Amino acid sequence: MKVGILHPGDMGVTVGLCLQQSGHEVAWLSSGRSEATQVRAKAFTDFDDLAKLCTHVDVIISVCPPDAAFSVAQQVHQAHFTGTFVDANAVAPATAEKIAGFFGSRYVDGGIIGPPARQPGSTRLYLCGGRASEIAAMFDGANLQAIVMQGNTSAASALKMAYAAYTKGSSALLLAVNGLAEAAGVTATLQQEWQRSQPGLAERSEKTALATSRKAWRFAGEMREIASTFEAYGLPGQFHAGAAELYELMAQLKTLPPAHLSEVVEVLLQASVKPASDVEADSLRD
Ligand SMILES: NC(=O)c1ccc[n+]([C@@H]2O[C@H](COP(=O)([O-])OP(=O)(O)OC[C@H]3O[C@@H](n4cnc5c(N)ncnc54)[C@H](OP(=O)(O)O)[C@@H]3O)[C@@H](O)[C@H]2O)c1
Repeated sequence: MKVGILHPGDMGVTVGLCLQQSGHEVAWLSSGRSEATQVRAKAFTDFDDLAKLCTHVDVIISVCPPDAAFSVAQQVHQAHFTGTFVDANAVAPATAEKIAGFFGSRYVDGGIIGPPARQPGSTRLYLCGGRASEIAAMFDGANLQAIVMQGNTSAASALKMAYAAYTKGSSALLLAVNGLAEAAGVTATLQQEWQRSQPGLAERSEKTALATSRKAWRFAGEMREIASTFEAYGLPGQFHAGAAELYELMAQLKTLPPAHLSEVVEVLLQASVKPASDVEADSLRD
């Protein structure tokens, strides 16, 4: 099969390499992408025009920032793609359903759980839809394990939302707690209490800062998708809306080396301080 990956980021490049290892040809679209993506994608066939790529490939797999997923799908639809479209992004079921509307029975819903698939057993691609088994078969023997789910059109997206709601939601909560403790001047005492009653939480905070700081910009969109998923099912979405806000504050760390907890807390507190002129304006309104 010929497969287009839109776009080969940290995760997408490993999806493409898995397909290559299973004997498929992998193509990508270089126009508009950064130097980092150019370097990552050098093993794939390069197209500089989406319409040409759409004519060449049988399958397109979208692996991009969640808040770009709808736009990527729309562009593929507008380029008159007639093959199978797989959205493997962390998007709300409602977003997945809108994307499915472009492709009908040619749509396969996906959700990836685990780190970039560089070794066997680390990462799963959940798939659902009429053509899910065909797509899963393309990953036979690859590092990325494809699992076909039963359920409605967007079940794989719903699974990803539920999974990431806890993993990335709890990371945001932990970072926010550290910011609060620092702002209130109780960090040292909180850490002593954690050692007594919540052993490991201080170490987890540091690891969480290092692991999230460069990806927080992308997590913000994912948190908004999760918040809207909760609300769609009549559950409170404000927790993950708050997590989105926190990750947005951290977005400036994207291009820096992984940040330590103290650096993340500093960014959160700097961003949350209102300029004096705003404080004055607020008091006048009161
Ligand atoms: N990384 C993980 O560990 C992981 C785990 C599970 C699931 N996923 C899922 O995989 C997807 C992508 O993650 P990733 O780690 O590959 O992200 P990434 O490393 O940030 O890469 C994103 C790719 O999309 C491109 N891109 C950036 N902005 C875009 C835009 N506005 N429109 C279209 N393309 C854009 C980037 O290109 P340029 O930077 O060159 O513009 C890059 O090639 C997400 O939906 C995520 O939830 C990732």
